[in-house]
Amino acid sequence: MDEHPERPGYLARLGRGSTMAALPKVDKIWMDGELVDWDKAQVHVLTHALHYGSGIFEGIRCYSTDSGSAVFRLTEHMERFERSAKMLLMDLGYTVDEMVEAVKETIRVNRLDSCYIRPIAFRGYGVMGLDPLPAPVQMSIAAWSWDSFLGQEALAKGMDVGVSSWRQRTVNANPPAIKATANYMNSSLARIEANKHGYAEAILLNEEGKVCEGTGENIFIVKKGVIYTPPVSDGILEGITRDSLMTIGRDKGIEVVERSMVRTELYSADEVFMCGSAAEVVPVRSVDGREVGDPGPITLDLQKTFFDVVAGRVPEYSAWLEYV
Ligand SMILES: Cc1ncc(COP(=O)(O)O)c(C=O)c1O
Repeated sequence: MDEHPERPGYLARLGRGSTMAALPKVDKIWMDGELVDWDKAQVHVLTHALHYGSGIFEGIRCYSTDSGSAVFRLTEHMERFERSAKMLLMDLGYTVDEMVEAVKETIRVNRLDSCYIRPIAFRGYGVMGLDPLPAPVQMSIAAWSWDSFLGQEALAKGMDVGVSSWRQRTVNANPPAIKATANYMNSSLARIEANKHGYAEAILLNEEGKVCEGTGENIFIVKKGVIYTPPVSDGILEGITRDSLMTIGRDKGIEVVERSMVRTELYSADEVFMCGSAAEVVPVRSVDGREVGDPGPITLDLQKTFFDVVAGRVPEYSAWLEYV
């Protein structure tokens, strides 16, 4: 990718190089109930999902703890996966418990410690046309070592983000409650634009101009000690990291409010941060060139607690860790 002419070195500064590196291969990928060699986990070019985006997926992280590897809120991820499938009338053929076990088996067989996990179910090969229901449902689970999506430097120092000219999908068109592959064209458009403008990430507004989320993260602002985040009804993915941070924040006695917000509130916020399974908890340093500043105290506190929780250092939240 080309550097931005006015921001030389911004990719390297944000540590984005790692997110663009080739996938680090492991031995096996779980595919339709079997563990197959990484290189053999392939599909036909006439796979329905390649043509019509008829797939659903999850992004999950497994962390290294003193008691072994643990997947963060794995059952809840697979429950969301099952809900996505239900909304698209996809019969997965596996229970949540069976999928949870398949994820663990994939991690174990590849001897991975901390890793990123990508379950996907999609309409496969056999028919073509816009009605997906006649096409067979296929499923796979891959896992690999993957550094934080936006890079270590962004985690530590924050990132520069820009509001996208693209609008977020709405509750009645490509509904965000379904974590469908088709939904991510929008995220891709916003990501391309953000990168071309020299930003590390985009923030999408909905058609009413309400702040929604990043391309793969939910968003929070802090104002006078209160944490605000957009409600699900504004068209966001109901993120599991978002829920974790809201719970942790409230448990710390901080007021956490779900309410709509507009673009200018990002400019005047005391703190802004974004979160997701891939991105983890990332401070925002500026929005559209308006400085937010160095990561603030609430952001840093939540980020630290989040990393303590996923590392198994906070017994209060041990139920969120599912050991491999
Ligand atoms: C559009 C979007 N919003 C938010 C999130 C964060 O969700 P989670 O914390 O469950 O990973 C993601 C990541 O899956 C996403 O793709």
